[in-house]
Amino acid sequence: MQSQETYNYKVVRQFAVMTVVWGIVGMLVGVIIAAQLVWPQLNVAEWLHFGRLRPLHTNAVIFAFGGCALFATSYFSVQRTCHTRLFAPGLAAFTFWGWQLIIVLAAVSLPLGLTTGKEYAELEWPIDLLITVVWVSYAVVFFGTIAMRKVSHIYVSNWFFGGMILAIALLHLVNSAEIPVSLTKSYPVYAGVQDAMVQWWYGHNAVGFFLTAGFLGIMYYFVPKQAERPIYSYRLSVVHFWALIFTYMWAGPHHLHYTALPDWTQSIGMAFSLVLLAPSWGGMINGIMTLSGAWHKLRDDPILKFLITSLSFYGMSTFEGPMMSIKTVNSLSHYTDWTVGHVHSGALGWVAMVSIGAVYYMLPRLFGEKQMYSVRLITVHFWVATIGVVLYIAALWISGVMQGLMWRATNPDGTLTYTFVESVKASYPFWTIRLVGGLMFLGGMLIMFYNMVKTIAGKPAYDAPVVAPAAHAA
Ligand code: HEM
Ligand code: HEM
Repeated sequence: MQSQETYNYKVVRQFAVMTVVWGIVGMLVGVIIAAQLVWPQLNVAEWLHFGRLRPLHTNAVIFAFGGCALFATSYFSVQRTCHTRLFAPGLAAFTFWGWQLIIVLAAVSLPLGLTTGKEYAELEWPIDLLITVVWVSYAVVFFGTIAMRKVSHIYVSNWFFGGMILAIALLHLVNSAEIPVSLTKSYPVYAGVQDAMVQWWYGHNAVGFFLTAGFLGIMYYFVPKQAERPIYSYRLSVVHFWALIFTYMWAGPHHLHYTALPDWTQSIGMAFSLVLLAPSWGGMINGIMTLSGAWHKLRDDPILKFLITSLSFYGMSTFEGPMMSIKTVNSLSHYTDWTVGHVHSGALGWVAMVSIGAVYYMLPRLFGEKQMYSVRLITVHFWVATIGVVLYIAALWISGVMQGLMWRATNPDGTLTYTFVESVKASYPFWTIRLVGGLMFLGGMLIMFYNMVKTIAGKPAYDAPVVAPAAHAA
């Protein structure tokens, strides 16, 4: 039995399309900075320098691409799992336009060199204020929808999205506390080692909540949907949620090993990072095992391939992270390409791939279609992207370990065996391979864009009717 009321898909459509657009823009900037590392002469103008484009890349891929993916998927799944229309549609529309404005302001201010200098929180204070307003509106829409739900149960994906929304609000408010001295310049209220500590409490939990908890919300909704199986263990998903959010909060100091931060704080960061392996793998196993009895679907369903491969990369990067947090390992990996390789096995392998899978799932449904224009092109995208990630991270593992070993090598008389520039020269071949991997990943996104345009061009927007709870478990 279906009611006349329809889901609010408009805002989902807008965010879903912009996920693909910003993905292309952010990854294009990634490819440009990867090329600048191979050919430094590409640093042609002040505002096109590596130092200015690098934060543009990280902001574009994390907050524009990843952010739009989170908005689209959470707005889609919260309505369906709560069997109700989105709360406060006007405010939901505001979150879309507000978020796009933030992205545009970032794209203008970062190349101009306007920055707080705090990694992943570079945007200056007027933009920070705008982020706060949009994020609070997002919380009102999301939790308002939960409050209006037609079923008593709150499905686990909503716990992950909700946890992400609350934690990001807290992180943003605390880490962005700053004193403005002009419209475009501010200074943090913290100083010295406290500033570093707050910054990496933020930085690590931006990874833990923005790039992990939110995307686990995507995983818990879209993997069972695409596999047409219930989640492997619902009990494990609940344990996974509480264990993950509790543990992440304490692991930040692993970014500050061997610094002025008190030693015991570093050790706590390391210990909690090691513990973090357990909930991370609990979630990964829960996602992959959801395919039990339906493994054959992996053979010819490229969307499922994206979703399950993303979980494999999630498992890999959450094994690697705890290992890198061990102080003796970190003394080798820190400052090297190994970190950048780790970042992208999480960012491309996990975050981008799970988002891509979810967007492929949603797009046709948002336009009343059964499937994408070309399933074959999704398969091509999958293989190009997978090979691209593997090239990217394998090249940087090798260059990272090589750099670490070259920097610490000493001669019998105690002098350094290699100069720094020798390690830079030795890294060039690996940076070229990374560039090729990045180009492949970007190429995959362009294929997705073509497939998207072919799927939706000329099609009327479609808002599915709200499904009554008894008739269907969303
Ligand atoms: C075509 C795809 C991509 C390419 C070619 C690329 C390339 C790069 C390059 C060259 C750097 C600078 C590395 C350095 O300073 O040595 C970088 C940094 C970074 N990228 Fe990407 N990237 C891509 C996609 C992504 C995506 C999708 C995300 C996140 C969802 C991401 C997140 C980051 C982060 C967080 C950093 C900073 C790493 C650190 O400080 O250790 N990238 N990327
Ligand atoms: C159990 C989970 C994880 C642990 C314990 C962990 C641990 C670590 C460690 C030890 C570093 C190196 C710090 C340094 O030497 O400076 C690091 C860097 C990083 N990791 Fe992870 N990681 C985990 C999962 C992930 C995932 C899934 C992602 C992405 C989706 C990710 C993104 C990053 C980023 C962006 C950085 C670079 C930060 C920077 O220096 O700019 N991590 N992580």
